[in-house]
Amino acid sequence: MNLTRRQYLAMMSSLGLLGGSRALMADNIDGVGPNRGIAERAFRGKQTCTNSNVFESDITTRISSPDDFGTNSCNMIEDSFEGPYFTCAPSTGKDIAIAQAGQPLIIAMRVVDGNCNPIANAVVDIWACNADGYYAGYSNDPDKRPPMVRAILFGHLKPDTETRFCRGALRTDANGIAEFNTVYPGFYYGQPIHVHFKAHVDGKNLLTSQANFSEEWNERIVNLPPYNKARSLKRNTKQGGFPEMGLLERGDHLVAVLDLVVPG
Ligand SMILES: [Fe+2]
Repeated sequence: MNLTRRQYLAMMSSLGLLGGSRALMADNIDGVGPNRGIAERAFRGKQTCTNSNVFESDITTRISSPDDFGTNSCNMIEDSFEGPYFTCAPSTGKDIAIAQAGQPLIIAMRVVDGNCNPIANAVVDIWACNADGYYAGYSNDPDKRPPMVRAILFGHLKPDTETRFCRGALRTDANGIAEFNTVYPGFYYGQPIHVHFKAHVDGKNLLTSQANFSEEWNERIVNLPPYNKARSLKRNTKQGGFPEMGLLERGDHLVAVLDLVVPG
């Protein structure tokens, strides 16, 4: 994209990225508010994936059960942005930790319709940073602001490494559940501890957003190695309007659950 200086300034101004726009940037990029701001909308729905060769979540080894989704299940989640670090998930199956150090965590997402009926054979795609705050595929220093202007101009950031940890896609089982083995995410610039997700039904991406983890659990986890390394960045403890994963213990397993309610 070749822009004259005037075109560049006009575009940056329209995006609210010049002059007295620091508050807008802070509000909209730093994890506050799920569905506000031009910068966020610029990330939404930019990338499509074929989702071919996506494995079905294995119901026979599943740790979570439909009852784990709790009495507050089936809450609507506002469709939101995918952020700069989305890439199409590799076909890894259930284990997406790929030898990353950290607190083992099972993330179970259940896709349901507006009447809370589970949807089998939907595709759930999740991505999160590792314990050190890095996203697979990206070398950006997690303690520094991502190159937002580049991300906004091109819709996302192009991966610059070959790593693919903590990303995955699975088809939901007969109970509408997709269950991943991963590690508890760390944190990066401006964001609370969170996991991103997309839900696809019949090849259509019907929901994109992210969910946070409870501060009670975050406090426990970030004080353990390898999360407790010295960082120049202070963790963002604001929850910012996104939903919160339910967390429960099943034997030796820590399980995070969330219902993804899709239209229809
Ligand atoms: Fe993120």
